[in-house]
Amino acid sequence: MAVRPVVVWPDDRLRQPSVAIERFDADVRALYQDLVDSMYAENGLGIAALQLGDNRRMFIVEPELAGRAKTDPPVAFCNPEVVETSEEQQDSEEGCLSFPDIYIKVKRPMRAKVRAQDLAGNWFELEGSALLARCLLHEYDHLTGKLLVDFVGPLKRTMIKKKLTKLKGAEASASELGDG
Ligand code: NI
Repeated sequence: MAVRPVVVWPDDRLRQPSVAIERFDADVRALYQDLVDSMYAENGLGIAALQLGDNRRMFIVEPELAGRAKTDPPVAFCNPEVVETSEEQQDSEEGCLSFPDIYIKVKRPMRAKVRAQDLAGNWFELEGSALLARCLLHEYDHLTGKLLVDFVGPLKRTMIKKKLTKLKGAEASASELGDG
């Protein structure tokens, strides 16, 4: 229904505790649609509700990555739980819409199984490996307030903070100019 601005770190809204979805109503479907529109606008593979400043427990994943047809709608994961992860690990660079142009090497399990409810409230399970496992675990982390910067040391964290704060300042003055 609407593309909404993605919350960029450091912003406290990314650390809010998230709340379970209890009623699968039009309101939840509206949130899903905003997530879909905002994810596609930013060319993301997934996005969590907290990234739009909404603390309901939902994230979505791009359909092809989630094993569906390209033309299918993105897959909604409401009230997700990680039920299984592999011992085997993978180690590669990861990005996040809340950290524009930042890529961080993150070690993750090679496979992960997630249990969640769809938009009608029906429980389903999805197991993924490689990039899909990485994406599921990354989006799940968002719902627990865990972010990419939690995988780096204090020095790198300060560097990232400087870079993103500067970026935010530049955007704010550009829109001021635009409005004026
Ligand atoms: Ni992210």
